[in-house]
Amino acid sequence: MRRLVVIFVLLGLACVAMGQRKAIKFPKEKKNSVVKVKADPKLEAAKGDVRIGPDGRPLLFGPNIELCKNRTSHGKLGKHHYFLSWREPWHKFEDWDWFNGRNFCRERCMDLISFDDPVEFKMFEEVMQQDNISSIYTSGRKCNFKGKGCEQEQFQPINVNGWFWAGAGNARIPPTNKRNRGTFWSHTGELKKPQPDNYEGLKAGKLEKVSDPVGLTLEDLQEWHDEACLAVLNNKYNDKIRWHDVACHFRSKIVCEDSEQLIKRALSENPGHTIPEPVAQTD
Ligand SMILES: *[C@@H]1O[C@H](CO)[C@@H](O)[C@H](O)[C@H]1NC(C)=O
Ligand SMILES: *[C@@H]1O[C@H](CO)[C@@H](O)[C@H](O)[C@H]1NC(C)=O
Repeated sequence: MRRLVVIFVLLGLACVAMGQRKAIKFPKEKKNSVVKVKADPKLEAAKGDVRIGPDGRPLLFGPNIELCKNRTSHGKLGKHHYFLSWREPWHKFEDWDWFNGRNFCRERCMDLISFDDPVEFKMFEEVMQQDNISSIYTSGRKCNFKGKGCEQEQFQPINVNGWFWAGAGNARIPPTNKRNRGTFWSHTGELKKPQPDNYEGLKAGKLEKVSDPVGLTLEDLQEWHDEACLAVLNNKYNDKIRWHDVACHFRSKIVCEDSEQLIKRALSENPGHTIPEPVAQTD
């Protein structure tokens, strides 16, 4: 009961903060609910190994008009829909790496969630708590690529100034070495150091121990081990629900949110089509 009150308070705040955007409560997941949705082979296929492009980097998918039309919503804020992977029965026991998770969203005119609004994060903090979810991926990403502009002065050092929301037009995440009311990095992690700490990347070290052909980061660290993706972990270090940098192969549940940009793109690539609002899933 107390939790429900908290949710309403939070959603009330969301209404205020988002002006006319009207918040709708995400229905609480039911325990032992009847499984109604069958595993979709297309969804299963989407979770195979990351496809690698000609430059040796994971391919970024564009939207697929049919999948956009068919996308599932588990809740919305205003006209903005969210997909919560664990709410799908076929997904119950499965987890995603960052690239596959992101591509799954993008094919559906969505992207991994961007917490560029603290109210949105507060809401998902509560959802993760009530659904007992150990981690979710966000679109948060560290600009660690070689030869793609990350070398610029303004992004140095990349662990401080190189973080951005890939799903929100590459909006910058404020510097990670200062407290900021819009960011929720954990104060601790594997080494009891404030996040992001690039624990795995630094541990794996430089060139001599390269174990994966995908390559090296801007700092000549191993891309596979570099903690370049932003996950929200639920109390793993007794630190409540907070942001952590993780290696992008880390497996996690995902949250997708509608991407206006990808909806526009899908419509312009498919003249004559419309993308209706998804019917919110209820059970
Ligand atoms: C979209 O959903 C409808 C109804 O569930 C289904 O018949 C159709 O095959 C789906 N299309 C795609 C591309 O998944
Ligand atoms: C929450 O999930 C963890 C595993 O991730 C499990 O050990 C624990 O029992 C769960 N708690 C509740 C209240 O279901």
